[in-house]
Amino acid sequence: MAGAGTGENSAYPSFSSRIAFIIVTAGSAVGLGNVWGFPYVAGQNGGGGFVLIYLLALALVAAPAFMAELMLGRMGKASPPTALGRLQAKVGSKLHWPLVGWTGLVGTILVLSFYAVIAGQAMDYMLEAAGGGFAGWSDADVQALDANFKSSMPMMALWSAIFMGLTALIVSFDINTGLEQAGKVMMPLLLLILLGMVIYSGNMGDFGKAVDFLFGFHEMEFTPRLFLEAMGQAFFTLGVGVGGIMTYGSYMGRDVNLPRATFWIVAMDVFVALAAGLAIFPLVFSSGVDAAAGPGLVFLTLPLIFADIPGGAVVAFAFFLLLTFAAVTSSISLLSPTVARLEEAGWSRRRGATVMAALVVGISLLTSYSFAGGKDVFPLAALGLGGMTFFDLIREGVSNFILPLSGLAYALMVGWALSREDVRQALPMADGPLFRAWHMVIRYVAPICITALFVGAVAG
Ligand code: TRP
Repeated sequence: MAGAGTGENSAYPSFSSRIAFIIVTAGSAVGLGNVWGFPYVAGQNGGGGFVLIYLLALALVAAPAFMAELMLGRMGKASPPTALGRLQAKVGSKLHWPLVGWTGLVGTILVLSFYAVIAGQAMDYMLEAAGGGFAGWSDADVQALDANFKSSMPMMALWSAIFMGLTALIVSFDINTGLEQAGKVMMPLLLLILLGMVIYSGNMGDFGKAVDFLFGFHEMEFTPRLFLEAMGQAFFTLGVGVGGIMTYGSYMGRDVNLPRATFWIVAMDVFVALAAGLAIFPLVFSSGVDAAAGPGLVFLTLPLIFADIPGGAVVAFAFFLLLTFAAVTSSISLLSPTVARLEEAGWSRRRGATVMAALVVGISLLTSYSFAGGKDVFPLAALGLGGMTFFDLIREGVSNFILPLSGLAYALMVGWALSREDVRQALPMADGPLFRAWHMVIRYVAPICITALFVGAVAG
């Protein structure tokens, strides 16, 4: 029940316990970005060196920004634009803080617009498995399944609609019934299945080569673009920068130790990404699929795991079901900020969720088109962005620009605009070395890293 809210905002909803907060927020972090995104981005960028930069970007920039976003939410106790407006008034800043909140709301819709298509493919594969699919399939069969899905816009639109319908349904309930129960049921199951997959893959595939690929050092070029990609992936995987985390922060009780909760959420997120890499790459190397295959990597390789094992269809079904739910525990955090804002305008949660989900499905057609007829349509080729489809532009535009720039804004708000005393009061249980380290990072390290990367990317 509404637990720890104190004082003026005691009517504001809140997660029912510390553990509930950690599970639901970890559910937002752990998603397609870990299981689908991390392996393919690491694969495209050459493995080991990229993984190292990714971990550094997480520790030095994305995780501290994540904590800042949670904190802004807990202090503002409202939807992102409203929360940031209150904090702006509190510190008497002349800058327009709600703008960062509104940009974030647009970001949530853009992320969902491609998230729904990818999650839809997971659901399509689930159905295939339910029909006994995958058993005895060859590489060619699996490639045909992927190609069939990606060539049919109606099929992609239908699955996006189903996925967003599910997301909207959960968000329609109050947070303790909807968000919280979804996380509590799905997260433990996801971890269990993933561990099973790593063990299986370690026995059946080329585990040594996968470990070397992900953690070994290989000759590679450290371009500014590589750093930007690593930072984009770090922000995406934690889901920092669009207000989803801020909204969850607004539901966080005062009894949650924020730095410690952040630590566990980030640790869980890293663990799942690395485990996904160790589940997928051994089979990539033993089956001869190209490690740099790109966004299709997971959908081309995972089914090969299931082709040979006894009861493969059952395991496949379980896996794609859980991948779907991992996606759902993230998508509900992406739908939450706009719904919270619409509630402030007097809408019911159900109406807000339904309308926003419908909007997302409409915009998702851009991504479907990029996989199907628009594979070779590069809308911004004239601006030097040849080779990038609508999907590429949306995914990279959000990950590499909106998320880090919002992260920079959060860092400046928390590190500089709010006084050290404000910050200390907002973190009542935290005054240890971790707090001091984070405060230094949020003031200096994170803003400098983000700015340097942008300067480097523009100059390079
Ligand atoms: N972190 C999720 C994943 O890895 C996706 C996600 C949730 C997200 N909230 C976000 C991505 C906010 C960007 C911004 O799949």
